[in-house]
Amino acid sequence: MNDSLHDFIRGLPKAELHLHIEGSLEPELMFALAQRNGVTLPYASVEEVRAAYAFSDLQSFLDLYYAGAAVLQTEQDFYELTMAYARLAMADNVRHVELFFDPQTHTVRGIAIDTVFSGIARALRQARAEYGLSSRMILCFLRHLSEDEAFATLDAALPLRAKYADLWIGVGLDSGEVGNPPEKFERVFARVRELGLHVVAHAGEEGPPAYVSAALDVLKVERIDHGVRAEEDAALMQYLAQSQIPLTVCPLSNLKLRVVKALGDHNLARLLRAGLCVTVNSDDPAYFGGYMNSNFIAIADALQLSREELVQLARNSFNAAFVPMSQKLIWFDELDAYQATAAAADESR
Ligand code: ADE
Ligand code: ZN
Repeated sequence: MNDSLHDFIRGLPKAELHLHIEGSLEPELMFALAQRNGVTLPYASVEEVRAAYAFSDLQSFLDLYYAGAAVLQTEQDFYELTMAYARLAMADNVRHVELFFDPQTHTVRGIAIDTVFSGIARALRQARAEYGLSSRMILCFLRHLSEDEAFATLDAALPLRAKYADLWIGVGLDSGEVGNPPEKFERVFARVRELGLHVVAHAGEEGPPAYVSAALDVLKVERIDHGVRAEEDAALMQYLAQSQIPLTVCPLSNLKLRVVKALGDHNLARLLRAGLCVTVNSDDPAYFGGYMNSNFIAIADALQLSREELVQLARNSFNAAFVPMSQKLIWFDELDAYQATAAAADESR
């Protein structure tokens, strides 16, 4: 069913702006790294891991996600994790990725922050050289921890800034949302902005629209990660449409974490049709059952998105990226050519 639309999606050039690299840890690699590093996992097999991925909400996922990340210990581990993601992204015609990483998940276990940076960066540089995959890194603060701990993480990362200047361009905010509002991180985000880094934050995934407003007004973020609950506030919706602040929406994540009961209930099409700059992303693909093309195909089928809407979603992803306009124009041209070729093929059929 819908074979030609699915093929159109697979070939569509696109950018991924909401991907936690630790969330791309497939059970097979989790097992291999556990064995290599002498870590005991509470599962007997890969199948048992997959069977455990039945989540009731964000926190039920985060508990397994942080436990899984414990197998990541060496620079080589972070390199292999990131390389595996880069290959899958290329297969999905992802041209550019801005990946999130959570240094605090690793530094609390005694892993040096440079080990984390170095492994991820080595893979991204290789993927750029070998496959032409464009990429950036966004360091996320864990919002269930304190602002002082976020400051300490920033202080530990800043000496590495020059070494990773080609990749590390921003800071984000993730982990358990409810009870950890943006205001908790006002001072550290002000410092991050002073340093000239880009700022984004998860907001309105499980948290109320007030958290989206606070991320914008208090943290002054340039993009909202998720943001689907913004729809509950009409004035906020109007602001998001007028400002074109992008929302990095993650359909399969929202389904698996029960933000929506079914993909058919997802508000992505309504947000898009209300003129918001919506993008499609995979969040934690190893845990939620699909990378970029799976997300696109699932939401296109569930909401009967048109080709024009799919192209708009891809265009939004390039437009929302933290890259120079000269680079965006190259991707827009590629997108226009792709759309024109697909239309010509239709006419000759
Ligand atoms: N960390 C990894 N995935 C996340 C999500 N969907 N929300 C908040 N924090 C996360
Ligand atoms: Zn996320």
